[in-house]
Amino acid sequence: MSPWMLLLLLLTMAFCTSASAAASASNSFSFKDSFDIMGAEDHFKASPDGQVWYLYLDQKTGCGFQTKQRYRFGWFSMKLKLVGGDSAGVVTAYYMCSDLGAGPERDELDFEFLGNRTGEPYTIQTNVYKSGVGGREMRHMLWFDPTLDFHTYSILWNNHHIVFFVDRVPIRVYKNTDKPNNFFPNQKPMYMFSSIWNADDWATRGGLEKTDWRNEPFVSSYKDFQANGCQWKDPFPACVSTTTDNWWDQYGAWVLDDNQREDFSWVGRNLVIYDYCKDYKRYPTLPPECSL
Ligand SMILES: *[C@@H]1O[C@H](CO)[C@@H](O)[C@H](O)[C@H]1NC(C)=O
Repeated sequence: MSPWMLLLLLLTMAFCTSASAAASASNSFSFKDSFDIMGAEDHFKASPDGQVWYLYLDQKTGCGFQTKQRYRFGWFSMKLKLVGGDSAGVVTAYYMCSDLGAGPERDELDFEFLGNRTGEPYTIQTNVYKSGVGGREMRHMLWFDPTLDFHTYSILWNNHHIVFFVDRVPIRVYKNTDKPNNFFPNQKPMYMFSSIWNADDWATRGGLEKTDWRNEPFVSSYKDFQANGCQWKDPFPACVSTTTDNWWDQYGAWVLDDNQREDFSWVGRNLVIYDYCKDYKRYPTLPPECSL
């Protein structure tokens, strides 16, 4: 290996460090080191030990938090417990986005939890945006009540697919067509966000069910954040190499394994309530990724 190549390799390694911010068992995770609060600071609270984070929504405002770092590819995971009781109109979101504002060219990977009237089931909506264009919604029912306990919601993102997981069960696989006109966000690094907001103009039964403010504040809870991804560092084009030893970039992470495939098809048979790839009214010609 020439000295130049060695230098290049070292640089690549230095700027494409696989950073891991994990809430470890030792409870030493610092919220402040990893996140910034978005919006009303007084609508954010943490447990005394700092390991559980609460977002409050009331008639005045909601709130959220975002990672300080951006990542390109990786495994991103968090435990959430959603607003219980009458949560109609309330949306809890957990997503990745390339932009801090809702920029017109943003890439985005969304989990959105749509609240409901007491006793009626939550719906989980996922979506993918590329350069400001979305319209890739899917909706699922869950196999448990997400307001009773913490459950794990994760995103695996590499250049082959994006997989949305609930408690390690893959509920959605979004593939890269690998064609020049693909609709696959893979260029821009993304932050991770969590937020709670009022969306009673569309969220519950298409906007028919309004938020009942007598129940405010609405509170969603978060813990155990994990970002196992390539941390982006400007101005160097980091995280471009797929030859690293990052597990999320390797063959094992390009496809589902047998167990995951089985779970995934069970979800597909039983829990899908909306799939844009089957919405011919909306898409007389289906987007190309639907044929994968
Ligand atoms: C809320 O409950 C109703 C009635 O069970 C159901 O039709 C709907 O899909 C549920 N979720 C949302 C987000 O509207």
